[in-house]
Amino acid sequence: MPSPILVNLDGELLRPAEAKISVLDRGFLHGDSVYEVIRTYRGRPFELAAHLERLTHSAKRLALAPRWSTDRVEVELYRTLRAVEGLPPPPPDPLAAPWNAGQWSIRVVMTRGAGEVGLDPALAVDPQAVLIVQPLAGPAARAYAEGVKVILASTPRPPPEAVDPTAKTGGRVGHVLAVREARDAGAEEALFLDAQGRVTEGCSSNVFAVRGGRLVTPSLAAGILAGVTRAVVLRLARQQGVGVEETALRPGDLYSAEEVFITSTAREVLPVTRVDRTVIGAGIPGSLTRRLQESFRAATASL
Ligand code: PDD
Repeated sequence: MPSPILVNLDGELLRPAEAKISVLDRGFLHGDSVYEVIRTYRGRPFELAAHLERLTHSAKRLALAPRWSTDRVEVELYRTLRAVEGLPPPPPDPLAAPWNAGQWSIRVVMTRGAGEVGLDPALAVDPQAVLIVQPLAGPAARAYAEGVKVILASTPRPPPEAVDPTAKTGGRVGHVLAVREARDAGAEEALFLDAQGRVTEGCSSNVFAVRGGRLVTPSLAAGILAGVTRAVVLRLARQQGVGVEETALRPGDLYSAEEVFITSTAREVLPVTRVDRTVIGAGIPGSLTRRLQESFRAATASL
């Protein structure tokens, strides 16, 4: 995994080792922060407006006043990208998909700030704004071509650390543990079920199935993050006249699906050919998944 290479800490561009934040910061103490992960194509951020909108939404749900306006985030993001392009490039990853090579992942973090230790948000002063730019670590070319395995996590989707699961908050220990479970099982991702046993989303992805030729994905009401990639994929599918249903999915619906894929900023449309021990469809990426992969790629090419 490549290490972060450039940090923007409240406007100051620093190498990671120089970027320091108070141990009293509530992002560190309580995960009292919101964040976004944005990626570039040919050096340009993708769906920036949607990410900034979601950042604002997350902050509102936490009643957190970010240090920076979204306009300032945008200015700083472009400035940091220009600076990082001027540094010696990281060594090329021979396994990377060509469109991911040399691209950046930008993590935008806004914390509620530091203060006397305690849960009361009124203790917070000095909110922090941080951008972390690192080489994009997308799936290997082979994963796009052959598909990956996912598991159903043994723990339910962690109760939203904040007010609702549509907020992208820093407190994600439940997700961290589920990723460990996935790695132990040799899987790319773990999908969470809700208390009623319905599939919700992955630790850092949304999930889709193809059933009866229709694209099915849990609705936002299922308590999931409104994925930016999910929205793009739904738009592309509808434009192509694909039948789309945002409705409940049970594990059995996934196991017996013709196709399954997951979506996220870094993964785009990633075919899933195994869910737990079950091989999906013919065990290779399905035709609708491939079509959506291609149209997604075309959408990023016209950026
Ligand atoms: N996570 N669901 C969850 C819980 C997520 O954390 C993410 C993304 C997604 C996919 O959203 P998007 O398409 O906007 O990336 C769904 C980011 C990438 C992360 O935490 O690294």
